[in-house]
Amino acid sequence: MPYAQIEGWGMHVPSRIVPNESFVKMGLNTSKEWISSRTGIEERRVAARNEPTSDIAVKAARRALRVANAHASDVDLIVVATCTPDHIMPSTASLVQNRLGARRAGALDMNAACSGFVYALAMGAGQIEAGRAEQVLVIGADELSIHLDWRDRSTCVLFGDGAGAVLLRAAAGPGILASTMGSDGSGADLLMIPGGARLPVNGNGRGNGGRYLKMNGPQIFRWATQMMSRAAEDVIHTSGLKPEQIDLFIPHQANLRIIEATTKRLGIPEDRVFANVERYGNTSAASIPIALCEALAAGRIDRGDNIVLTSFGGGLSWAALALRWSVPTGAKPSRWVPIRMGFETRVAAVRAAVRRQQRKVRASLDEKFRRDQN
Ligand code: ACO
Repeated sequence: MPYAQIEGWGMHVPSRIVPNESFVKMGLNTSKEWISSRTGIEERRVAARNEPTSDIAVKAARRALRVANAHASDVDLIVVATCTPDHIMPSTASLVQNRLGARRAGALDMNAACSGFVYALAMGAGQIEAGRAEQVLVIGADELSIHLDWRDRSTCVLFGDGAGAVLLRAAAGPGILASTMGSDGSGADLLMIPGGARLPVNGNGRGNGGRYLKMNGPQIFRWATQMMSRAAEDVIHTSGLKPEQIDLFIPHQANLRIIEATTKRLGIPEDRVFANVERYGNTSAASIPIALCEALAAGRIDRGDNIVLTSFGGGLSWAALALRWSVPTGAKPSRWVPIRMGFETRVAAVRAAVRRQQRKVRASLDEKFRRDQN
């Protein structure tokens, strides 16, 4: 059985920074100190109107391909973990596939809210281990800012936008060691964006009630610390590791107090935990891949390290995954990759334009044929 290992990684966050004091300036009944002491968040990124989820996902994915010296046209499967897709249909992954020029790849979105990236990583690894794919691009990308009620201090201060991606490849050694996923839909109402096919997010005479994220913060807080630590214990046990063999623990970045409570329960020392929630807030499915990229950039990961990822989110959902880091972290990507990537992107744009044109011509010929027959 082949193993799946991460060989490329990349992230992208929008350039607009919203610091805590902005909420006070906006007239919210809050303070810089309340937000930083209760959540650990100092600032977050917010995407521009013309910068949808697919856009930031493509940017992170290109970086991951570049690090892995991989070509988009060799990717077998693209999974985008997101709960803020550009459209209900088609999938954001299809838009990403087209823009990357990943012409052989299947593409799908996966919605497990903030747990989505770990779910997608486990499923992408499963495809490789089953021999059904050689290269899988797993992206976590979310823009929850568009679903925030900016007058609701209990939610709008917590979230930010961003994207992170990894390229999984088949390998002779591990790689991904173990994973677990879970769901408890009885808690669906504790964290939800009610809009959707039955309650359009732009309102349907019922106002914007369906558009905004609603959350029971304290209940999510209690449940999250339990589930993140239980899921992490599960994968540590299944992978045959001992807690002291964990070199780096990367939990979902929602709230520093949740991270601290979880690591305390697990008995993992502080210096083996990675947190960057202060700069990005909760970026939902993007939080773990962004943290992974920043941990690598900060030199916190070496070849041979055992890493545990654990996450929780709307659903309620949770997931954890243990992996052994198996590739050099400082290797310079080939300078030909960006050149070929630029070429592939242009070819992909031309191919898409030609296909659209072909479809138009075919449709008008069909129409003409039908008219001639009548
Ligand atoms: N500024 C000032 N006061 C505030 C703010 C704010 N931004 N937000 C809430 N408060 C107030 C509350 O109204 C409350 O006031 P009251 O006592 O007069 O009613 C008081 O602060 C305490 O509120 P709590 O909710 O008890 O505060 P808590 O310490 O639990 O912190 C928080 C709230 C930060 C929301 C916390 O519960 C939390 O982080 N929960 C988890 C949320 C989370 O991670 N969600 C994402 C899940 S992942 C996904 O799938 C998207």
